[in-house]
Amino acid sequence: IALKEDPSLPAAVRIKLNNKSVELGDDTKKGTRVKVFGRIHRLTVGKSATFIRLKDGYGLLQCVLQAGDLTKTYDALTFALETSIVLYGELRTVPEGNTAPDGRELQVDYYKVLGAAPSDLDAITNKVSRQSDPWDAAMLDNRHLVLRGETASSVMKLREFVELAFIDTYREMQITKVSPPAMVQTQVEGGSTLFKYDYYGEEAYLTQSSQLYLETVIPSLGDVYCIEKSFRAERSLTRRHLAEYAHVEAELDFIEFDDLLQHIEEIISRVVDKVLADEKASEYIKTLNPEFKKPSRPFMRMKYEEAIEWLNKQDPPIPNEEGNPHVFGDDIAEAAERRMTDIINRPILLTHFPVEIKAFYMKKDPNDLRVTESVDVLMPGVGEIVGGSMRMEDWDELIAAYKKNDIGHEAYYWYTDQRKYGTSPHGGYGLGLERFLAWMAGQHTVRTCTLYPRFMGRCKP
Ligand code: 4AD
Repeated sequence: IALKEDPSLPAAVRIKLNNKSVELGDDTKKGTRVKVFGRIHRLTVGKSATFIRLKDGYGLLQCVLQAGDLTKTYDALTFALETSIVLYGELRTVPEGNTAPDGRELQVDYYKVLGAAPSDLDAITNKVSRQSDPWDAAMLDNRHLVLRGETASSVMKLREFVELAFIDTYREMQITKVSPPAMVQTQVEGGSTLFKYDYYGEEAYLTQSSQLYLETVIPSLGDVYCIEKSFRAERSLTRRHLAEYAHVEAELDFIEFDDLLQHIEEIISRVVDKVLADEKASEYIKTLNPEFKKPSRPFMRMKYEEAIEWLNKQDPPIPNEEGNPHVFGDDIAEAAERRMTDIINRPILLTHFPVEIKAFYMKKDPNDLRVTESVDVLMPGVGEIVGGSMRMEDWDELIAAYKKNDIGHEAYYWYTDQRKYGTSPHGGYGLGLERFLAWMAGQHTVRTCTLYPRFMGRCKP
């Protein structure tokens, strides 16, 4: 059977599936006749009708093909998940007792298959197991197909809301967006995680952080931020490390350390508020992470030294990476940090890390020269999501810090000059967007918080 559109029917209006302004019909009145493009997300073939749950990236729509000519075509007999199709029909309220997305259904009068999908061994369901394990190699190889699923696509939609909430909040705070280069010849966070490449015969790197560039423009632009990619040749395969990630970084001029801490708490809280205030975004969070609650303010503040004591005071004590009690100067490793955050179970601003374990540019605490004016924000379930600090202001001190860290200062002249031409007390931070999203969306790993994750051993698809 070949289908033909009935020319006596009213012309169909093309809509996206999130369009809720269309008239719905019922037993007393006709609904709008529409035309919808999408792919088959779910398929149920019954005796009296075939039900297609259509998806188009905007929403879902229940489409009903009453048994008869509509269900007897070759296309109908070979419908498969992901088949792309255009359907025409009248939009109606779902009959009482039935449920469907947005409480409506399409009574189909005509359709055309645009791109069939296989229903045999190559079917999408055979490639993408319903039980999606983000560590599974097949799931990663088939990420392009995984992304068609409801969970993966909800996380990506939510990611956009989160990113836009940052942009809106910075705008409200009069912080200017800039776009520093990704191709650089300086390091920020240590040589061991630099990706090197050949730049017209010179050694160059993919940027680890835009911080240094942000610092150079505060004299002319005022407070600035960027949302750019950062790259880290991490050699560990943890659930929160990527080789390429979205880095939200800001730099604030003429501030004290306490202003920085206040600002970080403010930006996180306002972004959360904005996301929750959006109907669609809060719906995604309810489905992905029903437990999510906006953190109460003020956030807990804890000094590094207190954290060391806290770890040792637990019963049993939480040891360092060598299995020994923590001592001042130890890096608090990921496992210990996560244990601590999960037990305390609220955001922590962890401050005043020792000079030795922090980056060269961090300002020392004038009241305790062993430590820096630095901060990590730790979130339950994820651990560190923000790293920030006040920056060294003094030219001589910065030159000494390059030496101490074996960094040739010549390449950094443009950064050091900030200290020569009107230095200022300033500071900033970087927030990992995927980690923030993992926290809000209740994701076990940052790998599901980015379209196509990159980490050691994976640079495809
Ligand atoms: O603590 P980090 O290394 O700090 C900096 O890069 C500073 N220069 C930022 C600044 O002050 N402008 O990184 C900041 C944040 C971390 O807290 C984490 O959320 C994220 O970036 N991050 C990563 N996210 C995913 N994968 C990785 N490999 C990450 N490394 C850091």
